[in-house]
Amino acid sequence: MKIKKLPCKNRVFLAPMEEVNDPAFRLMCKKSGAGLTYTGLTSTLSPKKVILKDKPVLQIFGNSTKGIKEFMKEHNSKVAFWDFNLGCPASTAKKHGFGAYLTNLKTVEKILKVMKENTKKPLTIKIRKSPLEDKFLELAEKYCDAIAIHPRTRSQGYSGESDIDWAKNFAKKSKIPVIYSGNVNEKNYEKFLKIFDYVMIGREAIGHPEIFANIQGRSNPEKIRDFKKYLKLAKKFNLPFRQIKFQAMQFTKGNRDSKKLRNEIIYAKDLQELENLIKK
Ligand SMILES: Cc1cc2nc3c(=O)[nH]c(=O)nc-3n(C[C@H](O)[C@H](O)[C@H](O)COP(=O)(O)O)c2cc1C
Repeated sequence: MKIKKLPCKNRVFLAPMEEVNDPAFRLMCKKSGAGLTYTGLTSTLSPKKVILKDKPVLQIFGNSTKGIKEFMKEHNSKVAFWDFNLGCPASTAKKHGFGAYLTNLKTVEKILKVMKENTKKPLTIKIRKSPLEDKFLELAEKYCDAIAIHPRTRSQGYSGESDIDWAKNFAKKSKIPVIYSGNVNEKNYEKFLKIFDYVMIGREAIGHPEIFANIQGRSNPEKIRDFKKYLKLAKKFNLPFRQIKFQAMQFTKGNRDSKKLRNEIIYAKDLQELENLIKK
């Protein structure tokens, strides 16, 4: 199989994060300098509107091929490429048998086959350290153009020691490019890029889309940190108030003198109230 090159501006991506990576936040990260942005887990069966203005990697999940063909047909022209999640450790994933709980290799292969049949764009999977990692790698080498890895087990979630040696060994044995995800930040990303083909930044980017500008050596050229800018995009995309409020709390976290403002944001009941607080 000929491996497709990932269509990215640089090798540092915004990691997929459900509930964090709304379209306004992703667009800010992209403009700030992220090589690629990822959506969070996206259901191929949900009627929810999918906004793809930042041309992201669209990450889907599930436990069957249901809806994949139709979903991919609808959105293929607007995505950078496609990713299938095999790493989500959440209790809902356990309940429904998706993410890190999708362990039936035949089902995984069926899904990847359908995905491959429905796009000419690159295809990736995202996995964790797992007893099935070699089997997943085999499947990825058959169907995918890269593999994203997180060096924690399903039961570790996102905390506890991440097994960097495991990740290094995995990268050595992989015949396809490896995208590394786990505690990457502004200070250590270069070290990781010496070992892995690409890296992703997750939690360090929450409330800080300017992290990508810093990495590109551009010091916040468009005042990316400005929550007002987020607000403008969020309104344009008609994002729900609870999402905007969530981001307001993230963007103001750790700012000097923001304690009072954050206490007020918590109690904002609608967008008008939130906007008045931000204007002040
Ligand atoms: C709030 C949150 C939501 C996440 N949602 C997803 C998701 O939808 N899909 C996915 O593959 N990983 C998801 N992850 C995992 C991240 O992509 C990433 O692998 C993990 O956070 C480790 O990277 P970090 O240390 O840079 O945050 C999520 C992580 C967090 C903290």
